[in-house]
Amino acid sequence: MIKITNITIPEGQSFEPFKNHPYIDVAQKSISLQSASEDKTIDGSHLTVFPGLIDPHVHFRVPGQDYKEDWCTAAKAALQGGYSTVFDMPNNLPACVSLERLQQKKEIIQQQLAKVNLPLRYELYIGADKNHFQEIVRVKPSVIGLKVFMGSSTGDLLMDDESSLHAAFSIAAHLNMVVAVHAEDECMIQERTPQFAHCHEHHVHSQIRTPEVAASAIRQAASLSRLYGTKVYVLHVSSIQELEVIAAAKKEGLPMYAETSPHHLFLNDTYYETLGAKAQMNPPLRSPEHQPALFQAIADGVIDTLGSDHAPHTLEEKNQDYPDSPSGVPGIETNLPLLLNAYQEKKLTLDQIASLTCRRIQTMFDYSDRNDLLLVDLNKTKTVDDANLKTKCGWSPFHGWQLTGWPVYSIIDGQLLDLA
Ligand code: DOR
Ligand code: ZN
Repeated sequence: MIKITNITIPEGQSFEPFKNHPYIDVAQKSISLQSASEDKTIDGSHLTVFPGLIDPHVHFRVPGQDYKEDWCTAAKAALQGGYSTVFDMPNNLPACVSLERLQQKKEIIQQQLAKVNLPLRYELYIGADKNHFQEIVRVKPSVIGLKVFMGSSTGDLLMDDESSLHAAFSIAAHLNMVVAVHAEDECMIQERTPQFAHCHEHHVHSQIRTPEVAASAIRQAASLSRLYGTKVYVLHVSSIQELEVIAAAKKEGLPMYAETSPHHLFLNDTYYETLGAKAQMNPPLRSPEHQPALFQAIADGVIDTLGSDHAPHTLEEKNQDYPDSPSGVPGIETNLPLLLNAYQEKKLTLDQIASLTCRRIQTMFDYSDRNDLLLVDLNKTKTVDDANLKTKCGWSPFHGWQLTGWPVYSIIDGQLLDLA
Protein backbone atom coordinates (compact mmCIF):
# COMPACT_ATOMS: atom_id res chain seq x y z
CA MET A 1 0.00 0.00 0.00
CA ILE A 2 1.12 3.55 -0.73
CA LYS A 3 0.12 6.24 1.74
CA ILE A 4 0.48 9.96 1.02
CA THR A 5 0.16 12.03 4.18
CA ASN A 6 -0.32 15.72 5.03
CA ILE A 7 -1.85 16.65 1.69
CA THR A 8 -3.78 19.90 1.20
CA ILE A 9 -7.39 19.64 0.06
CA PRO A 10 -8.54 23.01 -1.33
CA GLU A 11 -11.84 24.65 -0.48
CA GLY A 12 -14.67 24.79 -2.97
CA GLN A 13 -17.40 22.86 -4.72
CA SER A 14 -15.03 21.06 -7.06
CA PHE A 15 -13.38 19.38 -4.09
CA GLU A 16 -16.62 18.35 -2.31
CA PRO A 17 -16.67 14.90 -3.97
CA PHE A 18 -13.41 14.13 -2.13
CA LYS A 19 -15.54 13.60 1.00
CA ASN A 20 -16.71 10.33 -0.56
CA HIS A 21 -13.58 9.44 -2.46
CA PRO A 22 -12.31 5.85 -2.17
CA TYR A 23 -8.64 6.83 -1.68
CA ILE A 24 -8.96 10.07 0.29
CA ASP A 25 -9.38 10.46 4.01
CA VAL A 26 -10.39 14.11 4.34
CA ALA A 27 -10.08 14.27 8.14
CA GLN A 28 -6.64 12.65 8.06
CA LYS A 29 -5.57 14.64 4.97
CA SER A 30 -4.20 11.48 3.43
CA ILE A 31 -4.48 9.27 0.37
CA SER A 32 -4.23 5.47 0.59
CA LEU A 33 -3.65 3.33 -2.48
CA GLN A 34 -4.41 -0.21 -1.37
CA SER A 35 -3.81 -1.80 -4.75
CA ALA A 36 -0.31 -0.37 -5.21
CA SER A 37 2.35 -3.05 -5.44
CA GLU A 38 4.89 -1.10 -3.38
CA ASP A 39 4.75 -0.34 0.33
CA LYS A 40 5.70 3.20 1.22
CA THR A 41 4.65 6.46 2.80
CA ILE A 42 5.14 9.77 1.02
CA ASP A 43 5.17 13.04 2.91
CA GLY A 44 2.68 15.14 0.95
CA SER A 45 3.02 18.34 2.93
CA HIS A 46 4.00 20.17 -0.28
CA LEU A 47 1.16 18.61 -2.28
CA THR A 48 -2.35 19.81 -3.14
CA VAL A 49 -4.89 17.33 -4.47
CA PHE A 50 -7.01 17.82 -7.59
CA PRO A 51 -9.41 15.53 -9.43
CA GLY A 52 -7.68 13.84 -12.40
CA LEU A 53 -7.64 16.34 -15.23
CA ILE A 54 -9.58 15.94 -18.46
CA ASP A 55 -8.48 17.70 -21.63
CA PRO A 56 -11.67 17.93 -23.72
CA HIS A 57 -9.87 19.11 -26.87
CA VAL A 58 -6.70 17.59 -28.32
CA HIS A 59 -5.40 16.76 -31.80
CA PHE A 60 -3.11 13.74 -31.40
CA ARG A 61 -2.68 13.34 -35.21
CA VAL A 62 -3.44 9.64 -35.58
CA PRO A 63 -4.03 8.33 -38.16
CA GLY A 64 -2.13 10.00 -40.94
CA GLN A 65 0.12 12.61 -39.38
CA ASP A 66 2.23 10.59 -36.97
CA TYR A 67 5.22 12.70 -37.92
CA LYS A 68 3.65 15.61 -35.98
CA GLU A 69 2.55 13.53 -32.97
CA ASP A 70 1.47 9.99 -32.13
CA TRP A 71 -0.10 8.46 -29.06
CA CYS A 72 3.28 7.31 -27.71
CA THR A 73 4.61 10.86 -27.49
CA ALA A 74 1.22 12.46 -26.86
CA ALA A 75 0.46 10.15 -23.92
CA LYS A 76 3.79 11.04 -22.34
CA ALA A 77 3.05 14.73 -22.90
CA ALA A 78 -0.49 14.46 -21.53
CA LEU A 79 0.55 12.60 -18.38
CA GLN A 80 3.51 14.91 -17.86
CA GLY A 81 1.08 17.82 -18.10
CA GLY A 82 -1.04 16.35 -15.29
CA TYR A 83 -3.84 14.97 -17.47
CA SER A 84 -5.33 11.51 -17.05
CA THR A 85 -8.00 11.75 -19.78
CA VAL A 86 -8.16 13.36 -23.23
CA PHE A 87 -10.93 13.82 -25.81
CA ASP A 88 -9.36 13.62 -29.28
CA MET A 89 -10.57 15.46 -32.38
CA PRO A 90 -11.44 13.81 -35.72
CA ASN A 91 -9.51 16.01 -38.20
CA ASN A 92 -7.13 13.20 -39.11
CA LEU A 93 -5.96 11.81 -42.44
CA PRO A 94 -8.38 10.35 -43.34
CA ALA A 95 -10.88 12.24 -41.20
CA CYS A 96 -12.68 10.17 -38.56
CA VAL A 97 -16.21 10.30 -39.98
CA SER A 98 -17.46 6.70 -39.90
CA LEU A 99 -17.69 3.70 -37.61
CA GLU A 100 -15.05 1.86 -39.63
CA ARG A 101 -12.60 4.75 -39.37
CA LEU A 102 -13.34 5.14 -35.69
CA GLN A 103 -12.57 1.48 -35.08
CA GLN A 104 -9.37 1.67 -37.13
CA LYS A 105 -8.29 4.77 -35.23
CA LYS A 106 -8.95 3.09 -31.88
CA GLU A 107 -6.89 0.06 -32.89
CA ILE A 108 -3.88 2.22 -33.71
CA ILE A 109 -4.27 4.19 -30.49
CA GLN A 110 -4.48 0.99 -28.45
CA GLN A 111 -1.33 -0.36 -30.11
CA GLN A 112 0.59 2.84 -29.48
CA LEU A 113 -0.53 3.15 -25.86
CA ALA A 114 0.37 -0.51 -25.27
CA LYS A 115 3.81 0.10 -26.75
CA VAL A 116 4.61 2.73 -24.12
CA ASN A 117 2.49 1.04 -21.46
CA LEU A 118 0.91 4.28 -20.33
CA PRO A 119 -2.52 4.47 -18.65
CA LEU A 120 -3.91 7.50 -20.46
CA ARG A 121 -7.69 7.42 -20.75
CA TYR A 122 -9.26 8.75 -23.91
CA GLU A 123 -12.48 9.38 -25.78
CA LEU A 124 -12.91 10.26 -29.45
CA TYR A 125 -15.10 12.71 -31.33
CA ILE A 126 -16.66 11.82 -34.67
CA GLY A 127 -16.38 14.46 -37.39
CA ALA A 128 -19.51 15.81 -39.06
CA ASP A 129 -19.32 15.39 -42.81
CA LYS A 130 -22.12 15.92 -45.31
CA ASN A 131 -21.53 12.52 -46.93
CA HIS A 132 -21.61 10.56 -43.68
CA PHE A 133 -24.67 11.71 -41.73
CA GLN A 134 -25.91 8.14 -41.44
CA GLU A 135 -22.73 7.27 -39.55
CA ILE A 136 -23.57 9.52 -36.61
CA VAL A 137 -26.21 7.17 -35.26
CA ARG A 138 -23.89 4.16 -35.75
CA VAL A 139 -21.02 5.68 -33.79
CA LYS A 140 -23.12 7.35 -31.10
CA PRO A 141 -22.44 4.79 -28.31
CA SER A 142 -18.70 4.88 -28.98
CA VAL A 143 -17.97 8.62 -29.14
CA ILE A 144 -17.91 11.57 -26.76
CA GLY A 145 -19.48 13.99 -29.23
CA LEU A 146 -19.86 15.29 -32.76
CA LYS A 147 -17.28 17.81 -34.01
CA VAL A 148 -18.50 20.39 -36.49
CA PHE A 149 -16.01 22.62 -38.29
CA MET A 150 -18.10 25.65 -39.30
CA GLY A 151 -14.88 27.27 -40.55
CA SER A 152 -11.94 25.67 -42.31
CA SER A 153 -8.94 24.65 -40.26
CA THR A 154 -6.33 21.87 -40.32
CA GLY A 155 -7.67 18.97 -42.40
CA ASP A 156 -10.60 18.83 -44.79
CA LEU A 157 -13.56 18.71 -42.42
CA LEU A 158 -15.88 21.61 -43.16
CA MET A 159 -19.63 22.18 -42.92
CA ASP A 160 -20.28 25.62 -44.24
CA ASP A 161 -23.69 25.21 -45.85
CA GLU A 162 -26.98 25.79 -44.07
CA SER A 163 -28.66 22.51 -44.88
CA SER A 164 -25.72 20.38 -43.67
CA LEU A 165 -25.56 22.34 -40.44
CA HIS A 166 -29.28 21.85 -39.90
CA ALA A 167 -28.91 18.13 -40.51
CA ALA A 168 -25.94 17.76 -38.12
CA PHE A 169 -27.52 19.78 -35.30
CA SER A 170 -30.89 18.06 -35.58
CA ILE A 171 -29.41 14.54 -35.70
CA ALA A 172 -27.21 15.31 -32.69
CA ALA A 173 -30.15 16.73 -30.74
CA HIS A 174 -32.19 13.64 -31.52
CA LEU A 175 -29.38 11.40 -30.26
CA ASN A 176 -28.64 13.67 -27.29
CA MET A 177 -25.06 14.13 -28.46
CA VAL A 178 -22.89 17.13 -27.66
CA VAL A 179 -21.96 19.14 -30.77
CA ALA A 180 -18.49 20.61 -30.36
CA VAL A 181 -18.18 23.51 -32.76
CA HIS A 182 -15.21 25.16 -34.35
CA ALA A 183 -17.08 28.42 -34.75
CA GLU A 184 -15.63 30.62 -37.47
CA ASP A 185 -17.76 31.88 -40.35
CA GLU A 186 -16.25 30.34 -43.50
CA CYS A 187 -18.07 32.73 -45.79
CA MET A 188 -16.55 35.74 -44.02
CA ILE A 189 -13.09 34.12 -44.05
CA GLN A 190 -13.33 33.59 -47.82
CA GLU A 191 -14.53 37.15 -48.32
CA ARG A 192 -11.74 38.68 -46.24
CA THR A 193 -8.77 36.56 -47.36
CA PRO A 194 -8.10 38.23 -50.76
CA GLN A 195 -7.68 41.66 -49.11
CA PHE A 196 -4.61 40.36 -47.32
CA ALA A 197 -3.17 38.21 -50.10
CA HIS A 198 -0.18 40.54 -50.54
CA CYS A 199 1.02 40.11 -46.94
CA HIS A 200 2.97 37.02 -45.90
CA GLU A 201 3.53 37.90 -42.28
CA HIS A 202 1.74 35.74 -39.75
CA HIS A 203 -0.06 38.58 -37.96
CA VAL A 204 -2.49 39.00 -40.88
CA HIS A 205 -4.06 35.77 -39.69
CA SER A 206 -5.70 37.77 -36.88
CA GLN A 207 -6.89 40.41 -39.34
CA ILE A 208 -8.55 37.85 -41.60
CA ARG A 209 -10.18 35.80 -38.85
CA THR A 210 -11.52 38.64 -36.70
CA PRO A 211 -13.59 38.28 -33.51
CA GLU A 212 -16.67 39.08 -35.61
CA VAL A 213 -15.88 36.09 -37.86
CA ALA A 214 -16.05 33.86 -34.78
CA ALA A 215 -19.05 35.61 -33.22
CA SER A 216 -21.03 35.28 -36.43
CA ALA A 217 -20.61 31.50 -36.44
CA ILE A 218 -21.54 31.27 -32.76
CA ARG A 219 -24.71 33.23 -33.51
CA GLN A 220 -25.58 30.67 -36.15
CA ALA A 221 -24.81 27.79 -33.75
CA ALA A 222 -27.05 29.42 -31.14
CA SER A 223 -29.94 29.70 -33.55
CA LEU A 224 -29.57 26.01 -34.45
CA SER A 225 -29.47 25.15 -30.76
CA ARG A 226 -32.65 27.19 -30.27
CA LEU A 227 -34.35 25.42 -33.16
CA TYR A 228 -33.42 21.83 -32.30
CA GLY A 229 -32.45 21.96 -28.62
CA THR A 230 -28.92 20.81 -29.50
CA LYS A 231 -26.34 20.81 -26.73
CA VAL A 232 -23.57 22.99 -28.17
CA TYR A 233 -20.01 23.16 -26.92
CA VAL A 234 -18.29 26.21 -28.40
CA LEU A 235 -14.58 25.45 -28.62
CA HIS A 236 -11.68 27.84 -28.07
CA VAL A 237 -13.59 31.03 -27.29
CA SER A 238 -11.13 33.88 -27.68
CA SER A 239 -12.83 37.28 -27.75
CA ILE A 240 -15.26 39.68 -26.11
CA GLN A 241 -17.57 39.48 -29.15
CA GLU A 242 -17.86 35.70 -28.81
CA LEU A 243 -18.44 35.98 -25.06
CA GLU A 244 -21.31 38.39 -25.63
CA VAL A 245 -23.11 35.92 -27.90
CA ILE A 246 -22.55 33.03 -25.50
CA ALA A 247 -23.60 35.01 -22.43
CA ALA A 248 -26.84 36.00 -24.18
CA ALA A 249 -27.49 32.40 -25.29
CA LYS A 250 -26.96 31.12 -21.77
CA LYS A 251 -29.19 33.83 -20.36
CA GLU A 252 -31.87 32.76 -22.77
CA GLY A 253 -31.55 29.23 -21.41
CA LEU A 254 -30.03 27.60 -24.49
CA PRO A 255 -27.90 24.52 -23.76
CA MET A 256 -24.70 26.26 -24.85
CA TYR A 257 -21.33 25.75 -23.20
CA ALA A 258 -18.00 27.43 -23.83
CA GLU A 259 -14.36 26.45 -23.76
CA THR A 260 -11.35 28.73 -23.81
CA SER A 261 -7.74 27.84 -24.58
CA PRO A 262 -4.48 28.55 -22.78
CA HIS A 263 -3.07 30.48 -25.74
CA HIS A 264 -6.05 32.82 -25.75
CA LEU A 265 -5.84 33.34 -22.00
CA PHE A 266 -2.10 33.86 -21.81
CA LEU A 267 -0.99 35.18 -25.23
CA ASN A 268 -2.18 38.00 -27.47
CA ASP A 269 -1.47 39.34 -30.95
CA THR A 270 1.63 41.24 -29.82
CA TYR A 271 3.34 37.84 -29.63
CA TYR A 272 3.50 37.48 -33.42
CA GLU A 273 6.54 39.74 -33.24
CA THR A 274 8.59 37.24 -31.25
CA LEU A 275 6.85 33.97 -32.08
CA GLY A 276 5.90 34.38 -35.75
CA ALA A 277 4.00 31.28 -36.90
CA LYS A 278 4.30 29.78 -33.41
CA ALA A 279 1.59 32.31 -32.54
CA GLN A 280 -0.68 31.20 -35.40
CA MET A 281 -3.75 29.14 -34.63
CA ASN A 282 -7.50 29.04 -35.34
CA PRO A 283 -9.19 31.06 -34.03
CA PRO A 284 -6.26 33.45 -33.89
CA LEU A 285 -4.74 35.46 -31.08
CA ARG A 286 -6.60 38.65 -30.21
CA SER A 287 -5.53 42.07 -28.97
CA PRO A 288 -4.64 42.23 -25.25
CA GLU A 289 -7.97 43.60 -23.98
CA HIS A 290 -9.65 40.27 -24.68
CA GLN A 291 -7.55 38.42 -22.10
CA PRO A 292 -9.02 39.97 -18.92
CA ALA A 293 -12.49 39.53 -20.46
CA LEU A 294 -11.83 35.77 -20.74
CA PHE A 295 -10.77 35.60 -17.08
CA GLN A 296 -13.89 37.55 -16.12
CA ALA A 297 -16.02 35.14 -18.17
CA ILE A 298 -14.55 32.24 -16.20
CA ALA A 299 -15.55 33.99 -12.97
CA ASP A 300 -19.02 34.71 -14.37
CA GLY A 301 -19.61 31.14 -15.53
CA VAL A 302 -19.81 32.16 -19.20
CA ILE A 303 -16.72 30.05 -19.87
CA ASP A 304 -17.21 26.49 -18.66
CA THR A 305 -14.03 24.62 -19.56
CA LEU A 306 -10.48 24.91 -20.71
CA GLY A 307 -9.14 22.71 -23.51
CA SER A 308 -5.51 22.77 -24.54
CA ASP A 309 -6.38 22.50 -28.25
CA HIS A 310 -3.04 20.68 -28.36
CA ALA A 311 -2.40 20.92 -32.12
CA PRO A 312 1.23 20.09 -32.88
CA HIS A 313 2.93 20.91 -36.18
CA THR A 314 6.64 20.48 -36.91
CA LEU A 315 8.96 23.47 -36.76
CA GLU A 316 9.76 22.92 -40.41
CA GLU A 317 6.07 23.35 -41.25
CA LYS A 318 5.74 26.34 -38.94
CA ASN A 319 8.83 28.02 -40.41
CA GLN A 320 7.00 28.82 -43.63
CA ASP A 321 5.62 32.20 -44.62
CA TYR A 322 1.92 32.95 -44.24
CA PRO A 323 -0.38 31.36 -45.36
CA ASP A 324 1.69 28.20 -45.92
CA SER A 325 2.42 27.94 -42.20
CA PRO A 326 -0.19 25.66 -40.59
CA SER A 327 -2.39 26.85 -37.71
CA GLY A 328 -2.11 25.23 -34.31
CA VAL A 329 0.08 25.07 -31.21
CA PRO A 330 0.93 22.33 -28.73
CA GLY A 331 -0.34 22.96 -25.20
CA ILE A 332 -1.06 19.92 -23.08
CA GLU A 333 2.22 20.05 -21.13
CA THR A 334 2.00 23.71 -20.24
CA ASN A 335 -1.74 24.12 -19.62
CA LEU A 336 -1.85 23.28 -15.95
CA PRO A 337 1.33 25.15 -14.94
CA LEU A 338 -0.04 28.24 -16.71
CA LEU A 339 -3.31 27.92 -14.75
CA LEU A 340 -1.55 27.31 -11.44
CA ASN A 341 0.73 30.25 -12.12
CA ALA A 342 -2.39 32.35 -12.75
CA TYR A 343 -3.63 31.17 -9.35
CA GLN A 344 -0.40 32.54 -7.81
CA GLU A 345 -1.13 35.82 -9.57
CA LYS A 346 -4.67 35.76 -8.11
CA LYS A 347 -6.29 35.59 -11.55
CA LEU A 348 -7.94 32.21 -10.86
CA THR A 349 -8.98 30.19 -7.82
CA LEU A 350 -8.12 26.52 -7.36
CA ASP A 351 -11.85 25.77 -7.43
CA GLN A 352 -12.13 27.44 -10.85
CA ILE A 353 -9.13 25.50 -12.14
CA ALA A 354 -10.61 22.17 -11.01
CA SER A 355 -13.93 23.13 -12.54
CA LEU A 356 -12.42 24.21 -15.88
CA THR A 357 -10.22 21.14 -16.22
CA CYS A 358 -12.45 18.45 -14.75
CA ARG A 359 -15.72 19.00 -12.88
CA ARG A 360 -17.58 21.03 -15.48
CA ILE A 361 -16.39 18.70 -18.24
CA GLN A 362 -17.74 15.73 -16.29
CA THR A 363 -21.18 17.27 -15.93
CA MET A 364 -21.34 18.67 -19.45
CA PHE A 365 -20.45 15.39 -21.11
CA ASP A 366 -22.10 13.28 -18.44
CA TYR A 367 -18.70 11.68 -18.03
CA SER A 368 -18.51 9.62 -14.88
CA ASP A 369 -15.82 10.18 -12.30
CA ARG A 370 -13.05 7.59 -12.60
CA ASN A 371 -11.61 8.51 -9.18
CA ASP A 372 -8.36 9.64 -10.79
CA LEU A 373 -6.38 12.19 -8.81
CA LEU A 374 -3.63 14.67 -9.42
CA LEU A 375 -1.16 16.02 -6.88
CA VAL A 376 0.45 19.36 -7.61
CA ASP A 377 3.14 21.40 -5.92
CA LEU A 378 1.78 24.95 -5.92
CA ASN A 379 5.17 26.40 -5.00
CA LYS A 380 7.40 24.57 -7.43
CA THR A 381 8.94 26.97 -9.95
CA LYS A 382 10.27 25.76 -13.27
CA THR A 383 10.96 27.26 -16.66
CA VAL A 384 9.24 25.84 -19.74
CA ASP A 385 11.99 24.53 -21.99
CA ASP A 386 11.49 23.11 -25.49
CA ALA A 387 14.32 20.66 -24.77
CA ASN A 388 12.31 18.97 -21.98
CA LEU A 389 8.98 18.61 -23.78
CA LYS A 390 7.54 15.17 -24.51
CA THR A 391 5.45 16.26 -27.50
CA LYS A 392 6.95 15.07 -30.77
CA CYS A 393 6.90 18.55 -32.28
CA GLY A 394 9.40 19.66 -29.63
CA TRP A 395 8.41 23.29 -29.18
CA SER A 396 6.04 25.44 -27.18
CA PRO A 397 4.94 29.06 -27.59
CA PHE A 398 5.64 29.32 -23.84
CA HIS A 399 9.32 28.32 -24.09
CA GLY A 400 11.29 30.37 -21.56
CA TRP A 401 8.29 31.19 -19.32
CA GLN A 402 9.01 30.72 -15.65
CA LEU A 403 5.91 29.25 -14.01
CA THR A 404 5.02 28.45 -10.41
CA GLY A 405 2.78 25.41 -9.80
CA TRP A 406 3.55 22.03 -11.41
CA PRO A 407 2.07 18.54 -11.34
CA VAL A 408 4.03 16.01 -9.26
CA TYR A 409 2.00 12.77 -9.11
CA SER A 410 -0.97 11.37 -11.00
CA ILE A 411 -3.13 8.59 -9.64
CA ILE A 412 -4.86 6.67 -12.42
CA ASP A 413 -6.74 3.47 -11.74
CA GLY A 414 -5.29 3.43 -8.23
CA GLN A 415 -1.72 3.48 -9.53
CA LEU A 416 0.75 6.23 -8.68
CA LEU A 417 2.68 7.90 -11.49
CA ASP A 418 5.68 9.99 -10.50
CA LEU A 419 5.84 13.04 -12.82
CA ALA A 420 8.69 14.88 -11.13
O1 DOR B 1 -5.22 26.11 -34.83
C1 DOR B 1 -5.85 25.08 -34.98
N1 DOR B 1 -5.24 23.91 -35.22
N2 DOR B 1 -7.19 25.11 -34.92
C2 DOR B 1 -7.92 24.06 -35.28
O2 DOR B 1 -9.11 24.18 -35.30
C3 DOR B 1 -7.30 22.81 -35.71
C4 DOR B 1 -5.96 22.69 -35.17
C5 DOR B 1 -5.15 21.61 -35.85
O3 DOR B 1 -5.65 20.48 -35.93
O4 DOR B 1 -4.03 21.87 -36.27
ZN1 ZN C 1 -8.81 22.19 -32.09
